[in-house]
Amino acid sequence: MVMTPFPADALFDWYDRHGRTLPWRSRWPALAPAYHVWLSEIMLQQTVVATVIPYFLDFVRRWPTVCDLARADSDSVMAAWAGLGYYARARNLHRTAQIVCQDHDGHFPDTVDGLLSLPGIGPYTAGAIAAMAFGGTAVVVDGNIERVFARFYAISAPVPAEKTDIGKAYAAQHPGMRPSDFPQALMDFANAVCTPKAPACGSCPLAAGCAAAAAGTPEIWPVKALKKPKPDRQGVAFVARNDKGEAWLVKRPERGLLGGMLAFPSAGWTSADGVVDPARPLDAAPFAADWHLQPDTLTHVFTHFRLTMRVAVADMGSPDMAGLMTAEGSGSWQRVRPASLPTLMRKVWKLAEAARPPQTGSLLRFPDPEAKAGHTGN
Ligand code: ADE
Ligand code: SF4
Repeated sequence: MVMTPFPADALFDWYDRHGRTLPWRSRWPALAPAYHVWLSEIMLQQTVVATVIPYFLDFVRRWPTVCDLARADSDSVMAAWAGLGYYARARNLHRTAQIVCQDHDGHFPDTVDGLLSLPGIGPYTAGAIAAMAFGGTAVVVDGNIERVFARFYAISAPVPAEKTDIGKAYAAQHPGMRPSDFPQALMDFANAVCTPKAPACGSCPLAAGCAAAAAGTPEIWPVKALKKPKPDRQGVAFVARNDKGEAWLVKRPERGLLGGMLAFPSAGWTSADGVVDPARPLDAAPFAADWHLQPDTLTHVFTHFRLTMRVAVADMGSPDMAGLMTAEGSGSWQRVRPASLPTLMRKVWKLAEAARPPQTGSLLRFPDPEAKAGHTGN
């Protein structure tokens, strides 16, 4: 089948005028360090460019090379990652840094196959590093590039099966020139012109050859398969506070959801810790205290389920908790720094903080007149 040639010249021309300047990006013929491309790509799997920029800058300021990251302690890496979500990625990130530093002399492999051997690096990330850091013509298809190719060539197999066709079109149409710019130009173009909703076909430099524009309905590509709804889970989190303004925090097991992260004791929302009876959530409390179940609930969407969480709060004064072990292992009283908590636990903390009891100081300063009357009566 003869395909319309992809108008790479028009794309590069657009990129030269409108492409973004990003802290992990270089312009051909300069290539970005593989460490920067890798780090940014792992972060970008979690969230959008604007959110990633400060995290990326913070990481490379703290750990300027992959070996600096390899030698960092795991808790500080997890804390720096906090807020980006899906914490298994942060653990893989740290492990991969150690492998690159120890087994590869601090140099990332420069081929897709070599890169694929590293934890947390799949075909997309391997292609991105091979192209952006080493100038290879590897196939790089993220959601943005997928959209441009699905539209330009009217590839109508539903997502994700259409990936194969798109990968083939990408490989066949790669211009050979400016290999590090090509995928990044496509990404910026997809983000600014060929947008998911209301693409700007009227002013698009690729419109002349575009099958979706010719059809007049660009938004129907890429074709989405019907997706099944995520299951709902119910959980409960327990915020115990002492009179020093600290809260009881546990470190979650390394394996599983929010693995290795600081958290309030909680139950019912991972498949590992069973179900919570929605009528009796306090039965799941990690230890005895005067727990108050908050009327509000919070919701949080994970990759495979939607979580509705209750929050119970106990203000415990100055309890003796030495040696206390709970189902989630040992915990400790700590000043809560929301920036070091995963997003779900930030929401828990926010809800708990909204439930602070009124300060009792004023009652102490103005003694109860009845009590006084009682005294004079003696
Ligand atoms: N999304 C993922 N990687 C990107 C990159 N290098 N530039 C812009 N957007 C991206
Ligand atoms: Fe995308 Fe429209 Fe341009 Fe085609 S013409 S590439 S659908 S913006």
